Amino acid sequence: MNEQLERIKEEALSALKNAVTLPDVEEIRIRVLGKKGELTAILKQMGTLSPEERPVMGALTNRIRDELEKEITSKTEALQREGLKERLLNESIDITLPGKNLSVGKLHPLTTVLNEITEIFLGMGFCIPEGPEVEYDRYCFEMLNMPKGHPARDTQDTFYINENILLRTQTSSVQVRTMLSQKPPIRIISPGRVYRVDTVDATHSPTFHQIEGLVVDKGITMSDLKGTLEAVAKRLYGDSIAVRFRPHNFPYTEPSAEMDAECFVCKGTGCSLCKGEGFIELLGCGMVHPKVLQRCGIDPTVYSGYAFGMGLDRITMMRYGIKDLRLLFENDLRFLNQF
Ligand code: DAH
Repeated sequence: MNEQLERIKEEALSALKNAVTLPDVEEIRIRVLGKKGELTAILKQMGTLSPEERPVMGALTNRIRDELEKEITSKTEALQREGLKERLLNESIDITLPGKNLSVGKLHPLTTVLNEITEIFLGMGFCIPEGPEVEYDRYCFEMLNMPKGHPARDTQDTFYINENILLRTQTSSVQVRTMLSQKPPIRIISPGRVYRVDTVDATHSPTFHQIEGLVVDKGITMSDLKGTLEAVAKRLYGDSIAVRFRPHNFPYTEPSAEMDAECFVCKGTGCSLCKGEGFIELLGCGMVHPKVLQRCGIDPTVYSGYAFGMGLDRITMMRYGIKDLRLLFENDLRFLNQF
């Protein structure tokens, strides 16, 4: 048995010396130390020995097992180290190569500015309902004091689905929808896409975006309108921005006005962007016409309100100094990636 043990040990040691891969080592371990291994088989024969021989052989077997285990561990570690060295050599990276560009999507400039504006109005307690782009003529025009044949419709020719249904030309239709479905106090803005028959050029597009606003409550006056819109302009363009209100005419507001903001390029002295005016038109606004309130079931002797409509595309162009409206709709990544 003694010789048998020595033979097992010698054979295992020389096999380990010649092993070149980790699976080789594992095979040797299983063959010698495994459950059905050579050394285990010897241990199982211990029962056949005399009581004097047994502890002697037992101790010898254990010593050989410990020795082999140590050898196997150190051979395994040596092979692992070699493998790592080889991998590092083969997989060496060229740190002078340019990195891979991961392209991450980003918000369209119109969305960025819209988010900014809605954030301002949300902070003032406004809600944000949306209306349909395919709209009734009644909501887009008639309820807003623009019956069929009214000259104010001329500037807002559009795409008709049939005589009574059209692609909305203005988000003002959402005013009507809101007042019909909700009692005052009302405080909303409604952003969305609008459509007009327009030939495409640097400042015109058959599709563009507006943000409509409406406030109806008891005791609302023109000074509420002016104070609110001035505060919005300051949030958008900075505290030093000057605004001015010019009289205007909209069929659905009385009185009506347009609000201009000081040109952000020349600060009011006049330049090519503001066409020498020193101011740039930002929005249309006014006090909601009593007939509009009445048609929507709101008593104009009890309630009053103001409304406004601003062009999101124009505000975005002003914000970023974009000179051509078409760029906003072409989805050209060379343009969009600049924001
Ligand atoms: N709807 C107008 C336009 O498209 C903008 C506007 C002006 C909206 C005055 C309003 C308003 O609500 O009161 O030019």
